[in-house]
Amino acid sequence: MSKITVVGAGNVGATCANVLAHADVFNEVVLIDIQGDLAKGKALDTWQQAPVDGYSTRLTGGSDYALSANSDIVVITAGVPRKPGMTRDDLISTNAKIVVSVTQNLLKFTKNPIIIVVSNPLDVMTYACWKASGLSDKRVFGMAGVLDTARYRAFLAEELDVSPKDIQAMLMGGHGDTMVPLPRYTTVSGIPVTELIKKEKLDAIIERTKFGGGELVNLMGTSAWYAPGAAAAQMAIAIIKDEKRVYPCCVRLNGQYKLKDVFVGSPVKLGRKGVQEIIKLRLKKDELDLLHKSAAAVKEVSDLLDGMKVF
Ligand code: APR
Repeated sequence: MSKITVVGAGNVGATCANVLAHADVFNEVVLIDIQGDLAKGKALDTWQQAPVDGYSTRLTGGSDYALSANSDIVVITAGVPRKPGMTRDDLISTNAKIVVSVTQNLLKFTKNPIIIVVSNPLDVMTYACWKASGLSDKRVFGMAGVLDTARYRAFLAEELDVSPKDIQAMLMGGHGDTMVPLPRYTTVSGIPVTELIKKEKLDAIIERTKFGGGELVNLMGTSAWYAPGAAAAQMAIAIIKDEKRVYPCCVRLNGQYKLKDVFVGSPVKLGRKGVQEIIKLRLKKDELDLLHKSAAAVKEVSDLLDGMKVF
């Protein structure tokens, strides 16, 4: 039996649950939301999609955390989405209180889950969840890099007129404007992308990726959900199938890259035990400098959170 709970049945959470149901790898998907009927309704709607699309995943929903009992994995998407003009950091105190209370409620019913945080500002919310949970830092991490690389890969696929499936990429750093793209580690079916695209074009795509979230907020009046929901689902699937997929995830660094006690994006190996390894890239000095700058920005907000007494 495998069970996953998605907290927050809004745009991202409901999309994540829907993608998970279609993957047909979990026996049970539970949707929890403070608006219980919303979670119940979306779970029922996705369950009614099962005969059409052909999957067996059972879905339930509501506001009672007892529904989440003994989950293998939890995805936290609860929070307030970003509105036009808001930075991710504007969301900090509201969403931190939500993430901390969600974490405490979950742990009443599940002893040692793996938790994937999606709520923004991502890196800091992951820290808040980890701190509130008391769980190992191998079991609490955030979804950002899978989404950021997906955006980058989609833009590159469009520019090069190739399938997005054939673009592999890695990036590091915080989720947001300080992310650290690594063109050296971007390939098109193994061909370094730098051989296929002019530097100015690549730089423009990197810039667009950094502000990819904001571009969608401006278009839709709220933050994105299809790619974020699917990205979180992909991480959960890699874990439950013990695939040892290599993804960029927001993880607590413990000396890697000369960074300590900060949650920031890094390549990791994901398997049944959560973060099974933090992969160390041989970064060049300028790349390392950018990573340190990005980590300092995350640390600054995490310290701010410590001062807010949300724990
Ligand atoms: N407990 C459970 N659910 C909550 C709580 C809480 N304490 N507080 C809010 N929620 C629920 C809301 O009721 C809502 O249904 O979280 C859901 C959030 O859904 P949306 O408003 O649609 O936001 P969404 O677009 O899904 O984004 C959620 O993910 O990508 C991030 O920046 C995004 O932080 C945001 C989060």
